[in-house]
Amino acid sequence: MRKRVKFFLAIGVLLIAIQLVPVRRENPPVTAAIETPDEIGSLLSASCQDCHSNQTVWPWYSRVAPVSWLVYRDVKKGRDELNFSEWGGYSDRRRDHKLEEIEEKVSEGEMPLKFYLPLHPEARLSEADRQILVDWARAERAALGYVSEEAE
Ligand code: HEC
Repeated sequence: MRKRVKFFLAIGVLLIAIQLVPVRRENPPVTAAIETPDEIGSLLSASCQDCHSNQTVWPWYSRVAPVSWLVYRDVKKGRDELNFSEWGGYSDRRRDHKLEEIEEKVSEGEMPLKFYLPLHPEARLSEADRQILVDWARAERAALGYVSEEAE
């Protein structure tokens, strides 16, 4: 019994101690936000913004380690890969590549990340929403003029 008490005490102390590891829940300034039709803007805000913009709404569980570390990692990775708050600074080539990825990830249902949805039901995309996003990404690519080059 004593052993067990010690064990749980140790876990408790550890859980408290890890709360002290700083997690930088920051929202850097929005420097060059993407410009889209309202319909697209609302979909991106509802479903993508938390991980792909500098306007993350950090949820309560992002304040509790070790979950906070995972949330931070996803936001950091998400922003590094694709940041709609810095889109205006992307080169045409980069935009084209990101739009192609958006087409792919959204049509295959890989984004938004699955684990995110139960906690953010409003971020779930319907079939129609997916189609709207895919059509938009295609039209944007066509406007950039890269599509025919890569089509096989
Ligand atoms: C919960 C966080 C989260 C949400 C919400 C989210 N993403 Fe992501 N996304 C990530 C992470 C993390 C990565 C990088 C790792 C990976 O591909 O899984 C990523 C990668 C991507 C990539 C790949 C970029 C590249 O160049 O490889 C695209 C495109 C993308 N996301 C689009 C979207 C779109 C569009 C939405 C909204 C419909 C969305 N994501 C919602 C976390 C998220």
